[in-house]
Amino acid sequence: MGRRRNRHVQNQNNSKSWGKKPEWIEDKNCEQYEVFYKEQNVVPEGEWDKFLESMRSPLPVVFRVTSGSSHAEQLHKFMRNSLSKLTNVEVDGQKLEAPFQLPWYPGGMAWQINANRSTIRKSDELKKLHNLLISETEGGSMSRQEAVSMIPPLLLEIQPHHKVLDMCAAPGSKTAQVLEALHKDGEKIPEGFIIANDLNNKRCYLMMHQVKRLQSASVAVVNHNAIALPPFYLDPPDVKHRTEMKFDRILCDVPCSGDGTLRKNLDIWKKWNVASAFNLHSTQFRILKRGLELVTVGGRLVYSTCSLNPVENEAVIAEMIKTAQGTVRLLDTAPTLPGLKTVPGLHKWKVMSKESEFYSSYDDVPENIRILPHHQNTGGFFVALLEKTADVPWQKKRKAPESSNHEVVEKKLKESEDDSKQSEIIDKTDEDDKNIEAINDDSKTDEKDESKKGVHKNKVVTHKFQGYKEDPFLFFEKDDEAWPQIKSFFGMPDDFDYTTLLCRSDAEKKRNIYLASGSLKRFVVNNEDRIKFINLGIKIFGRISSNSQQQGFGCDYRLYQEGMATIFPFIKNRRISFSRLDMITILSQENPYISKFSDVAHEKLKETSMGPVVLIYEPQPGEDGCPLVLCGWRGKTSCRTYVPKLERGHYLRIFGEELGDGKGPAPEDICVESSPQPQEETKQEAV
Ligand SMILES: C[S@@+](CC[C@H](N)C(=O)[O-])C[C@H]1O[C@@H](n2cnc3c(N)ncnc32)[C@H](O)[C@@H]1O
Repeated sequence: MGRRRNRHVQNQNNSKSWGKKPEWIEDKNCEQYEVFYKEQNVVPEGEWDKFLESMRSPLPVVFRVTSGSSHAEQLHKFMRNSLSKLTNVEVDGQKLEAPFQLPWYPGGMAWQINANRSTIRKSDELKKLHNLLISETEGGSMSRQEAVSMIPPLLLEIQPHHKVLDMCAAPGSKTAQVLEALHKDGEKIPEGFIIANDLNNKRCYLMMHQVKRLQSASVAVVNHNAIALPPFYLDPPDVKHRTEMKFDRILCDVPCSGDGTLRKNLDIWKKWNVASAFNLHSTQFRILKRGLELVTVGGRLVYSTCSLNPVENEAVIAEMIKTAQGTVRLLDTAPTLPGLKTVPGLHKWKVMSKESEFYSSYDDVPENIRILPHHQNTGGFFVALLEKTADVPWQKKRKAPESSNHEVVEKKLKESEDDSKQSEIIDKTDEDDKNIEAINDDSKTDEKDESKKGVHKNKVVTHKFQGYKEDPFLFFEKDDEAWPQIKSFFGMPDDFDYTTLLCRSDAEKKRNIYLASGSLKRFVVNNEDRIKFINLGIKIFGRISSNSQQQGFGCDYRLYQEGMATIFPFIKNRRISFSRLDMITILSQENPYISKFSDVAHEKLKETSMGPVVLIYEPQPGEDGCPLVLCGWRGKTSCRTYVPKLERGHYLRIFGEELGDGKGPAPEDICVESSPQPQEETKQEAV
């Protein structure tokens, strides 16, 4: 969200001052800011002091349980129970307010703890909760997110069939929320999908990490200038009347000055000036304009900023409403989020010069909403919900480029590259630079392997995009040689569309195999020549070793936990029913002997050959819990699960157990047998 502090620079400063915060970080004063906002009347009369006091205090901790998974309700129950015990926490002799559910968040799935990090560190109970949040967030079952940032996706009222575009998506917190909404029908792969775009190549990789946590086949990360996003198609270029694809929902969370985030981005106190909003206004307007072209008639678009400046908010919306000449209307947001405290957008504002002189400006602005920090202990935010009622007047009836007409595509790409450069200068977002660099290092393409790039079987796709070159997305062909073996070993149905499986290397033996939803595949193959795709699909199968058959494993591929929820309904073989206790055993021990499991599971494991297995738990009558499916490995004498440690902790938690009580299994229970790991991933394969 908005402009972030450059942690790298901050850390350098810190180290110089031996751990002390630099003086400017503590100095929460900005005279120009006060003059400007007092004059704008953004704060209701008599509330200025409270507003400023709130802006100067640290943000509370807010988190939500990831919806859409079978165990979300169970985890929510666990959280309710844990948080209800935190009613009497005292820090430095002061009783803390008990954690509470955000009244406007659907299902009460979001919580706020009115304590900042340093307070949390002082309380053992809160520290424990904090560690739990970190582990659940990393595993994708919870998300730490600022309360106000949760608002835009909720206003879009996403349905599983919606095609959604997130124009300025990195680092991806709102994308993650949209994904959850697309998956609200549970196991079924949604018909809709989300395209998460960002101009900043590095931030796209940061977003990839965020999105990966949610294990979905319905999201693609793309890297383009939102102002110049090309027209998209779902038909191949050789179709005669190729119609442009429009999105049902669009998130337009534009780059902004971020002065609503003063509570966490303390450097803004020092850097704030009137000019930054002016510089951003035109970019914000142009992104919104392109968004309104790309949304379907009857579709919705949310425009939001984490700035309180009317130049970035009401002025953009007012200008757009005028330009759209009745083809776009603003919708009332109140019915969607009852309980959220807002103030109406401004109808009048003043433009301030660098010398702090004011010029009045007035526009007939319909309803927008502003969220002020002191009303419910949040950051400051602006949001407008728009509906497109007819084609916007400036929208040229675009003629689809003919398949042979590469010049049109090249010209469009050139235009967008030029625009990207221009916009890069404006956008100075440099959040988590170190983090991003680390992620990028992992994802850099092997430049020596250049000859492989852009080859799609016989078709050569020439990308002229900026940033790191990505490996191609190679979908399985109809006669793919890897499929018959996988199909028969796992008992996959004849009608499973295996052409939605893909890999990232055209080396003869496929290593990792990913899955994209059918509709997303259609989007990708018909638009990969016009936009840079960074990431797509979830990892389903991994190649074990070249001689797995000789070793008696029966199949060259094993399963991945991250793809289990999606692929499990299609796997009919190699299923082992586990009891609750079996699940606890396999989650808390490394390689338990098969004799350690219940009789039913033991018998079934005995008659199952070595290799990948699917471990299934269904709660029995009277048992409190939710269904669980894990990917496992049947070894010679033992059985193990390939579930990362953080996720094990999560599953044990929903069974009411804790990981690592310090005792561990008795030595005689530990089997030292090793199970095969998939072949080393190449860096470029690690999507
Ligand atoms: C406010 S942040 C988005 C936060 C994001 N929606 C979220 O919830 O995590 C704005 C983003 O816009 C991106 N950006 C800036 N100019 C852009 C442009 N012209 N096209 C696309 N993205 C742009 C920045 O890189 C930044 O990641």
